[in-house]
Amino acid sequence: MEYLLDTANLEEIKYFNGKFPIVGVTTNPTIIANENGDYKKIINSILAIIGTEKMLHVQVLGREADIIIKEAELLKDTFEGNLYIKIPVSDEGLKAMSELKNRGFNITATGILTSQQIVMAAKAGADYMAPYVNRADNIGGDGVKVVRDAFDILSRDKNNKAKILGASFKNVKQVHESILAGAEAVTVGSDVLKQMIYHPYTDWSIEKFESDWGKVYGSGKTLI
Ligand code: E4P
Repeated sequence: MEYLLDTANLEEIKYFNGKFPIVGVTTNPTIIANENGDYKKIINSILAIIGTEKMLHVQVLGREADIIIKEAELLKDTFEGNLYIKIPVSDEGLKAMSELKNRGFNITATGILTSQQIVMAAKAGADYMAPYVNRADNIGGDGVKVVRDAFDILSRDKNNKAKILGASFKNVKQVHESILAGAEAVTVGSDVLKQMIYHPYTDWSIEKFESDWGKVYGSGKTLI
C-alpha cells in the first residue's frame, strides 16, 4: 500500500514528509496554481524537501500528443528527481503515454472518471492511473466502484504492473473503501490524511499512559 500527499504547499509537504510514511507527492495545475508562484521554483522546493527517491507527480497541460511529449521532455531535463508525468486520459493523451513509456518515462494517467479509462491507460503504458473518486461521486457516480471494476479487470492480466492511484478524496471513508476495492496507492490532501490517523480515544489513551506513569515516576518523565 502506498500513501502519497496531494498538495504543492511546502509547509504541508515538510510536515507530512517528516512525520507520515508517504512515498511521494502529487500535484496538478490547480494545486500548483494555488501556491501562486514560479512553478519551477515550487517543483524544485518540493524536491528539496522530499529528495530524489520519493515520487513527484507533475501534470502537463498540452492537449496534443506532440506538445505533451515536449512538456514531459522539459520536465525531465529541468528537474532532478523521481518524476512521474501526469497526463489526462484522452485520445492524444493515450498516444503520448505510449510514446513516452517506450522512451522510459514514468507515467501517471489522470483526470479519470471511468473504469475503462483506467484499463485503457494501463494498456497504453501508464504506471499509475488516478481515478477521481470524489469527483465521480459528485456527479452521481460511484468512485469506489470505478476503482473496484478496474481492479477486477486488471487482475485478470497476470502481467499487469500498473497501479491504481486513488485520488480526489474528500473523506476517510472514500480512501478506505478505495483501498479495499483494490487501489494499490492513494493520494490524499492534508486534512483527510490527518483525519486518517486521528481518534479521540487514542489521544485519551496517550494521556492516561502519561498520567499513570507520572504518578509513579514523576510527571512528564519518559524512559530516558
Ligand atoms: C491528484 O492527482 C488529483 O489531481 C487530485 O486528487 C484531484 O483532486 P480534486 O478533485 O480535489 O481537485
